[in-house]
Amino acid sequence: LRRALGEEIEVETVVAGGLWNTFADPLQIENALLNLAINSRDAMNGAGRLTIEVGNAFLDDSCSRTHPEVKAGQYVVLAVTDTGSGMTEEVKEQAFEPSFSTKPEGKGTGLGLSMVYGFVKQSGGHVKIYSQAGEGTTIKLYLARSFRSEDHVSAADTVATTGGTETILVAEDDEGVRTTVIEMLTDFGYYVLKAKDAQSALTVIESGAHIDLLFTDVVMPGPLKSPQLVRMARARPPDIAVLYTSGYTEDSIVHGGRLDPGLELLSKPYTREELARKIRHVLTNRPQGGGAAADAAAPHSTPADPRHAETAGKLKLLLVEDDAFYKIN
Ligand SMILES: Nc1ncnc2c1ncn2[C@@H]1O[C@H](COP(=O)(O)OP(=O)(O)OP(=O)(O)O)[C@@H](O)[C@H]1O
Ligand SMILES: [Mg+2]
Repeated sequence: LRRALGEEIEVETVVAGGLWNTFADPLQIENALLNLAINSRDAMNGAGRLTIEVGNAFLDDSCSRTHPEVKAGQYVVLAVTDTGSGMTEEVKEQAFEPSFSTKPEGKGTGLGLSMVYGFVKQSGGHVKIYSQAGEGTTIKLYLARSFRSEDHVSAADTVATTGGTETILVAEDDEGVRTTVIEMLTDFGYYVLKAKDAQSALTVIESGAHIDLLFTDVVMPGPLKSPQLVRMARARPPDIAVLYTSGYTEDSIVHGGRLDPGLELLSKPYTREELARKIRHVLTNRPQGGGAAADAAAPHSTPADPRHAETAGKLKLLLVEDDAFYKIN
């Protein structure tokens, strides 16, 4: 904001205590805030005061009666106030329209507020302009309250791109993709198991092999679907971390661009670095519920080989073979 606003604009932030949560894309919030701040800068001709406030609000039925598009309920409000020129009624009425701008050609596309409007509506919220010509402007974004807990601070993109020594089961039907992923994960230091569909992934899991993370494609051929595989894998202690990957933006686990709670997704195509980060992120934040019980049942003992200590001495072999001759022998 500092860079966008220049030296002559004073910025004040007021954050209310006991703030509720909302569910939105942080990048879109940043973008909306930046758009509002730049509008304010222009309206103040580069000098004045910008106030950013965040607080809780309850919109009641009387509010939704006068504004039919407004749903009564609890909201987190992000308000941006400036000491600029303000808006006439006429400008206010058209401000959200795509390509409406009062700025000289080349200065404004008129898309700023319409994008803010689109984003807020998409996340189930409302936008309201309070302004009068000569009196400055306040724009309030009402973002629907979410009852989900706050996301982990270790957002995927702040985690270092390091590898690890955990065991990862890769379920991927595309042979090319599978080979590349396995190569990368092995490079990062992980121990990798592979499966070409959900059914064979389940066989590997049911063999009792120790698996820390299941990395599975969302859409694969075969009777067993990935979400079912994940449900069955998670039902077995110890808790297994799950990372989905998909080339589609909309499919069985993604609803309107949102993941079901508790699911992690790495969209294809991804870079080597993105893969490393996301895998580490998911492993770090994996559910710890069954972990302790599992540790007690199968202690991962010697530091020399923590992973396979329980199998030292006696090795289990999983044979997958359709020829009866080999099965018997
Ligand atoms: N804080 C504000 N004070 C006064 N007028 C404003 C303010 N914010 C927006 N407006 C008015 O609303 C119009 C539309 O704003 P919007 O952000 O959509 O487009 P723009 O700023 O003109 O162009 P762009 O954002 O694409 O660079 C502006 O041209 C301006 O007339
Ligand atoms: Mg703008």
